[in-house]
Amino acid sequence: MDQNELKRAAARAAIEFIETGTIVGVGSGSTVNFFIDELGAIRGRIAGAVSSSERSSDRLRANGIEVLELNTVLATGRAIPVYVDGADEINRQLQMIKGGGGALTREKIVAAACSRFVCIVDRSKVVDALGSYPLPVEVVPMARELVASRLRALGGRPEQRAGFVTDNGNLILDVAGLPMPDPAALEAEINQWPGVVTVGLFARDAADLALVASPGGVQRLDPVAVAA
Ligand code: 5RP
Repeated sequence: MDQNELKRAAARAAIEFIETGTIVGVGSGSTVNFFIDELGAIRGRIAGAVSSSERSSDRLRANGIEVLELNTVLATGRAIPVYVDGADEINRQLQMIKGGGGALTREKIVAAACSRFVCIVDRSKVVDALGSYPLPVEVVPMARELVASRLRALGGRPEQRAGFVTDNGNLILDVAGLPMPDPAALEAEINQWPGVVTVGLFARDAADLALVASPGGVQRLDPVAVAA
């Protein structure tokens, strides 16, 4: 099985978590693209989707799925039971690095609005410790050097993602080499710097379960508790 077949298998497995008549929270990326296509096959059974990127919105609409505004959904008291998204890395506590596609800010917003985060990945994304994948950080353009210098002080090597502007009009710093002994503490620290819009660590709010595809099948991972 190649990696795309594994991504498709994980995406297909997520369909069983979608309850009839509900609104679905939808992430971004190549694994999610497979999920959107699977969702298209059951579009008559769902009440629409809230999307985390313009690219996912376009693909949802191409699959005949109505894209709803998050503010409207929440203002009218409707729940979003499940959010389905991929990850660049995921550990056994189901903490993640996300943002390889640059959609981290809207992904974090939509995930926070949904009751349950189902992460869909192929097995190459599962790691013992986060940090091999460069950490994406969305930054307001005028704060680039301020944030970059602080990331360097933490031991990272930030590089601006070339030719890339987020859906929110900001830039991405991809940070290699950042030590992550405590991902939740690092997320909290970077998040509160002026000019940082979102850090691509999803550690304080980890996934609720992961569907991990390998050639032997799709395995469900529940978060492993860490001893205090
Ligand atoms: C986009 C993301 C994606 O979930 C992440 O990059 C994984 O993407 P893919 O499924 O293409 O490997 O966070 O911002």
